[in-house]
Amino acid sequence: MQRAHFLQRSAGAMLAVAIPPFASRAFADDSISYKLTSTPFTFSPSTGQSYPSYAYNGFLPGPILRARVGQRVRIAYTNKTGHDSTIHWHGMILPNAMDGVQNVTQKPVPPNGTFEYAFAANPSGTRWYHDHYDRQLINGLFGVFIVEDPADEPADAEFVIVLHDVPSMKSYDAAMRGVSNAPMTEPMDSREMTSMKVGDKMGDEVGYLAHCINGASYPQTKTLTVRPGARVRLRMLNANPTETKYVRLAGHKLTVTHTDGNRLSVPIDVDVVRLGVAERIDAYVTIAKPGAFLLQEISSEPTAYQQSVVLATTGMEHAPPQASSMMLGDAVVGTYEILAGINTKPQTYMELRANVTQHFELGGGVYGNGAWTMNDKVYPHIPPVIVHHGDLVRITYHNTTDMDHPMHLHGHVFKITKIDGKRLARPLLKDTSLVRANGGTMTWEFHADSPAGRWLLHCHNSVHMMSGMMTEVDYKA
Ligand code: C2O
Ligand code: CU
Repeated sequence: MQRAHFLQRSAGAMLAVAIPPFASRAFADDSISYKLTSTPFTFSPSTGQSYPSYAYNGFLPGPILRARVGQRVRIAYTNKTGHDSTIHWHGMILPNAMDGVQNVTQKPVPPNGTFEYAFAANPSGTRWYHDHYDRQLINGLFGVFIVEDPADEPADAEFVIVLHDVPSMKSYDAAMRGVSNAPMTEPMDSREMTSMKVGDKMGDEVGYLAHCINGASYPQTKTLTVRPGARVRLRMLNANPTETKYVRLAGHKLTVTHTDGNRLSVPIDVDVVRLGVAERIDAYVTIAKPGAFLLQEISSEPTAYQQSVVLATTGMEHAPPQASSMMLGDAVVGTYEILAGINTKPQTYMELRANVTQHFELGGGVYGNGAWTMNDKVYPHIPPVIVHHGDLVRITYHNTTDMDHPMHLHGHVFKITKIDGKRLARPLLKDTSLVRANGGTMTWEFHADSPAGRWLLHCHNSVHMMSGMMTEVDYKA
């Protein structure tokens, strides 16, 4: 008991420091154990529909794993998929050998094989886990991992919201060759749609057969019930392999508190949250009045309403729910610029000297050609970023393609410091960030203070990742 108490207090105290070094965080000797078994699974998000998929422990999404920050976690993994498999702990900073990348940090777990993942749960926040083999990740092998932060604002109710979709594998295969005819699905008046150029020939979108929240399609999604006046915490994950999601709760503003599990220095109120592939947003909302409200995807896709769930006050579960427009209109959208603020006095801002700087031109996506590139090369031919422990690393991107790229770095939390030439007033702490299409630029900074090893850096759009847009950040002694 004493020990648990001590852990809570010291974890809270550490929050004053943004990202304490790994060694000082791995202090807990109590541990928690989980068992995960992956199997083929017939996924039925609504009556009469079924899709061949995979699941962890028979759940799609997989079970929610929880640990206190710093707590030792052991996960005994058994692979019954019939294919090679690994589990990646997205957003976690852990020993490199536990990072779950086949043939980079570990040998793949063979069919019927087992592997024990063991690490301390760091950093706190909404993290997630998924298979690192494309077909398994996009077909059900993903789940949320909550690393509890005792310093977080308490909530009367907390809901995990996993947005996920059933891919049409035919369109996925066509997208891999750059010849898909699936349409874009962002809201009609979103930046993604309005910045398209006439005559843009896309071949890289993936079509989806069903849209789900927490394992079901609306109206079969499980209603979330709270008492009137409840302060609700939403932990949202976009587990779709290729699409950015816009999400709105009818009749309410959402107070965004965390991006990718990392606390914002100032909470920001928005009407709509925007989640790139693999991103997480934590938001709080007070349900002041009795009623039923749809939490839903805002999209130009006609069947997007399936990605909705009712949030109702007790007794109002069956009332017709209030819904939102499928257009953004003048809604405040939680873009990075809105969440972080733009620094309007850039001259007064001194840029720290980085020990390592690396620029990436994001390219490819030419119609009829499946390659997606970084500096004109594809993985594994893109030279890794070489760092030494303690380096300040600055990575810049310029996106020459017609799609946004959700760039993800394993094993680190980085800061977005600049977007499209504008400096953020309060740099955002992230592990995945969208680099805007058609000329967008972005700057990341991070300290190389993670455990030594090879850490993947890749686009989390599954098609792009599997088509070359991937490299590594490698530690040298
Ligand atoms: Cu969610 Cu290689 O990552
Ligand atoms: Cu991409």
